[in-house]
Amino acid sequence: MPFSEAAQKELQQVVTRYPDKRSAMLPALEIAQREQGYLTPEAYEWVAEALDTSPTWVASVASFYTMLRKEPVGRYLVQVCTNLSCSLLGAQPLLLYLQEKLGIEVGETTPDGLFTLVTVECLGSCATAPVMQINDRYYERLTRERIDEILTALRAEAGS
Ligand code: FES
Repeated sequence: MPFSEAAQKELQQVVTRYPDKRSAMLPALEIAQREQGYLTPEAYEWVAEALDTSPTWVASVASFYTMLRKEPVGRYLVQVCTNLSCSLLGAQPLLLYLQEKLGIEVGETTPDGLFTLVTVECLGSCATAPVMQINDRYYERLTRERIDEILTALRAEAGS
């Protein structure tokens, strides 16, 4: 998939912010992910060329970060925190509830392509646990009722 002109420009601008081009690795990967939804071998090549490094190096850096996706995901990436504070406040039963409501296991995408369900480590919002992140938005103090509302709203937003 070719990258848009806007993404090309953004990448060029990001690279100029750093004395060493390779320091722009993470913002560059975020641009690529935003363009394609996840990181492909073409994305690694695109970033590598801009940063004067190798696609293998880019891929190895990307492998450290769970927020950088290496596979396609649904329109809504549901990331449930299962770390300590969230677990103490019921993350596991809520995760089971989400699996039941979505009809998928962790790591899977719904057949309509709307939702991908994953677990993540601490989202840094322990005081409002249990927490999940869907795309760029946090949903806090989760309950079953709140999950029902969220899924209904997202399905309505997607027109399904
Ligand atoms: S443990 Fe879930 S946000 Fe910190």
